Amino acid sequence: MFKVVLSGQVCQVRCDFIVRHITTLTIMVIAAERIRTLNKYEKSILNSLERGMKRYEWVPLEQIKTATKLSESEVNYRLARLIEWGMVRFNPVPYDGYALVFGGYDTLALSTLTRNGTISALGSRIGEGKESVVYEALGLGPVAIKFHRVGQRSFSSARLNRDYMPEGGHCPWLIASRLSAEREYQALTALHPKVSVPLPIGQNRHTVVMALINGPNLNHCRLEEPEEVLDEILTYAGITYREGIIHADLSEYNILMEEGRCVIIDWPQWVATSHLNAQSILERDIDNILTFFKRKYNVVYDRGDAMRCVID
Ligand SMILES: Nc1ncnc2c1ncn2[C@@H]1O[C@H](COP(=O)(O)OP(=O)(O)OP(=O)(O)O)[C@@H](O)[C@H]1O
Ligand SMILES: [Mg+2]
Repeated sequence: MFKVVLSGQVCQVRCDFIVRHITTLTIMVIAAERIRTLNKYEKSILNSLERGMKRYEWVPLEQIKTATKLSESEVNYRLARLIEWGMVRFNPVPYDGYALVFGGYDTLALSTLTRNGTISALGSRIGEGKESVVYEALGLGPVAIKFHRVGQRSFSSARLNRDYMPEGGHCPWLIASRLSAEREYQALTALHPKVSVPLPIGQNRHTVVMALINGPNLNHCRLEEPEEVLDEILTYAGITYREGIIHADLSEYNILMEEGRCVIIDWPQWVATSHLNAQSILERDIDNILTFFKRKYNVVYDRGDAMRCVID
């Protein structure tokens, strides 16, 4: 057990991961604890960097001083602390410039979500994908908070997989991660509760807060009645399609099983049914699911029948 309290309210949050995932967890815990102790000048600097990065890749010191109305010595002192905490980076060439990094962006988002009462405590890490990290948190009840991290590993591969990636700009990872979170929240809002997806609770910057699903990923389950679950997934894919949406990354890894029913997660890459390649994207989704059920349970479902079940 450990405590990471973001607001005044004290609560205990379980942490099984503290030894195995000490590095990432430590960064997040530091970020969470800093929110309470973050000085108003430090917050103001983070905010000015967020605004400044719309114009600059590296925000000049002069710009930060003007935006925050702080003295040069105060700004330098606060920036050194923010760099030490992994929230800001410094680049001396060709001028002294500073940039927000994911740690700082996480802090700004957590700070807003705490202030507006969406969450009050951050718990352990419960998932990590190619382009996100997911934590347990406490809102009105237990919730999941997903921090989108688009472009963290390879920005060019991220762009290949997404239609909505910003073309240029000074800070593509920041914009792309925010857009990714906004798109995921948009899909959850459009689909819940007609389709079994996590209840959307809140969204800020590159984060989405949603209901915490208690259950394993489909690939980790041993289903007693796989045919029924396959039917359920195809039915949800059909309702989703009639809402004008295709998941576009549907697979056993993006389905959680909670008390015998499936919950479809991970929506940022969804495409509209009017998309030029809608048919082939939907076919790929359906193929992923049919292949999984064939391989693991030897359940054979005709691809044409599955497509008709979804589209008709
Ligand atoms: N609402 C939730 N409740 C419980 N666990 C969740 C929730 N959302 C995500 N997770 C966990 O976090 C993992 C990663 O989430 P998700 O698939 O949305 O992110 P991702 O970065 O897109 O992953 P990938 O790129 O690998 O598909 C999931 O496999 C799941 O174990
Ligand atoms: Mg996923």
